[in-house]
Amino acid sequence: MRIVTEQAKSTTRSWKLVGMRSALVLAVVAAGAATYAGVRIAEFETSMKRVYDVPLRPVQRSTDPAVLARGEHLARSLGGCFTCHGQNLGGGRVEKMGPLGQIQAPNITSGKQGMLAAYGDAELARLLKHGVRRDGTSVRFMPSQDYSWWPDSDIDALISYLRTVPPVDGTPGVVELGLLGKLFDRLGMVAFDVARRIDHENLPQAPPPSESAQYGAYIARLCQGCHGEKLSGGRIPGTPSEIPEPSNLTPHETGLKDWTFADFDKLMRTGIRKDGSKLHPFMPTDNTKHFSDTEMKALWAFLRSLPPIPRGNR
Ligand code: HEC
Ligand code: HEC
Repeated sequence: MRIVTEQAKSTTRSWKLVGMRSALVLAVVAAGAATYAGVRIAEFETSMKRVYDVPLRPVQRSTDPAVLARGEHLARSLGGCFTCHGQNLGGGRVEKMGPLGQIQAPNITSGKQGMLAAYGDAELARLLKHGVRRDGTSVRFMPSQDYSWWPDSDIDALISYLRTVPPVDGTPGVVELGLLGKLFDRLGMVAFDVARRIDHENLPQAPPPSESAQYGAYIARLCQGCHGEKLSGGRIPGTPSEIPEPSNLTPHETGLKDWTFADFDKLMRTGIRKDGSKLHPFMPTDNTKHFSDTEMKALWAFLRSLPPIPRGNR
């Protein structure tokens, strides 16, 4: 029984990571079409070998406590770095995703087996916004496409903070992708090949942080992997039945029509709904609880500006 529960927990966690990072779109897997699959998998391999020519830019590192605090805030909230790379950033847990493969995010401190010492500041900045590693190839699975819109000052703050994190001896991590993982990447169901999803010459430009819906729209990119492109919820394609259906976040009666900002804020910070019921842990309140008031209000303003759409239209 215990083993069964542990297994269910681990499945939930793994799919949570998949949901967090990807725009899972409706795609019918033309299973059995072996040639088709073979072509797609070859495309994946070719794309992963590509060396991107993205120039490095100098980083303004700082020891100003306000800048470091901003960096830590980003790492805990919008960046979700701790969710994947572990409580002390020494490496995450091994996430088994069945036939898709298995992933363990590496140690990103300057300790033994850590990635930080090898990376220069400019290389880190490029990794974060472009998903391009030191050797010029794409990083796998790490959601740089969700950070591309961050202003350079935020990237610099995050890097300044990372350089202050105590070194720990952690794990070098593991990324092993199965054939199905490679195929699903090409079908747009999960993002393992990150750099090809970013328009390196035209990164998105967000407005400065404010409580506006325009700013909230950028934060809401973090929600679309699970709640759908239109944020109307419904089952994430391909997920097993123990994963709950993400809710409708639009102001429709099957969504958040009757919710106030206070209800929303409480849910995002505590995982408790307006009727007092507890949310399934699949919804990542471990980062959303760290959102600032400005971020939370901007997100709410954006959700209120959406057209009301019935639940399940993704
Ligand atoms: C959804 C999980 C996830 C999140 C969130 C995440 N990472 Fe990663 N990160 C990974 C994985 C997986 C790898 C290994 C990638 C590979 O080997 O291709 C990685 C690799 C790295 C690397 C090493 C790159 C290399 O050359 O292998 C650094 C540095 C890094 N992450 C920093 C960060 C920072 C900083 C944040 C927060 C802004 C962050 N990551 C958020 C999953 C994540
Ligand atoms: C990893 C997937 C995932 C991500 C990412 C995610 N959610 Fe959720 N969310 C869920 C699931 C699943 C539920 C339903 C949980 C349940 O039924 O207990 C949910 C429920 C909710 C609810 C409760 C609605 C209701 O009617 O009870 C709100 C509000 C919400 N999410 C907002 C957000 C916002 C805003 C974001 C982005 C910042 C976000 N979620 C990101 C998976 C996710």
